[in-house]
Amino acid sequence: MSKIVVLMGAPGAGKGTQARLLQERLGLPQISTGDVLRALKEEQTPLAEEVRPIMRAGGLVPDDVMIKIVRERTGREGSGYILDGFPRTPPQAAMLEELAVEQGKSIQPILVDVPLEILERRMVGRRSCPVCGEIYNIYFRPPKSDNVCDLHPEAQLKHRADDNHETVQARLATFAEQTRPLLDYYQASNRLRRVDGTREPEAIYADIEKIVKGDGGPD
Ligand code: AP5
Repeated sequence: MSKIVVLMGAPGAGKGTQARLLQERLGLPQISTGDVLRALKEEQTPLAEEVRPIMRAGGLVPDDVMIKIVRERTGREGSGYILDGFPRTPPQAAMLEELAVEQGKSIQPILVDVPLEILERRMVGRRSCPVCGEIYNIYFRPPKSDNVCDLHPEAQLKHRADDNHETVQARLATFAEQTRPLLDYYQASNRLRRVDGTREPEAIYADIEKIVKGDGGPD
């Protein structure tokens, strides 16, 4: 049975970094609800108007909007895929259970575990390439030349609008209140696997790859 790999973790834990590695090396498509919403909010539509202030404030976009987006986007994938940023609430988790049954897939939740005190620097220091999406960090993973992508020197790196101190604090609070309870939900059915997200990205990836391939990995 193919898998829906659900990468979980607080904002800035490294879900996007790991999802990109999984996509590149195992060929599993990455579906990032944050990326979908960032593209959507640039449009001139009533939905974009609704989504923009929510993201700016670090809150969650309503479940009905998210469920529609995920149902539509995952419907294009024949085999397994990675969800980065979904589910984030109990109704989203319930919808994913139904979707997995409909699609004949199993759900593999993986928590990238990082303590709160590290997360703010990861987000405030994050920069990404507008061309290829490569993720850098001015503190932990700087590009070779200031503010340009190593692979696309013509492209100035972008700083996300929600990666400022105030919004980061709100996003962390939203995670603690609304998404953290989902970890207990997946733990209760013995599906949740945890990896220590404080190490180098390659060490974290090695654990995640083992879990995805069903070759063991930590706990
Ligand atoms: P989203 O884009 O999903 O943001 P997030 O969950 O806050 O996660 P991030 O993208 O900030 O972090 P990440 O864990 O991917 O870390 P990354 O790999 O980039 O969501 C944005 C907004 O959209 C939400 O606030 C909400 O409003 C809305 N939204 C999205 N999904 C929704 C849903 N389902 N329901 C409702 N609303 C939704 O890494 C971060 C930084 O750390 C980078 O600079 C990276 O280089 C660095 N780094 C990564 N790994 C390491 C490492 N091992 N060591 C050192 N540095 C590292």
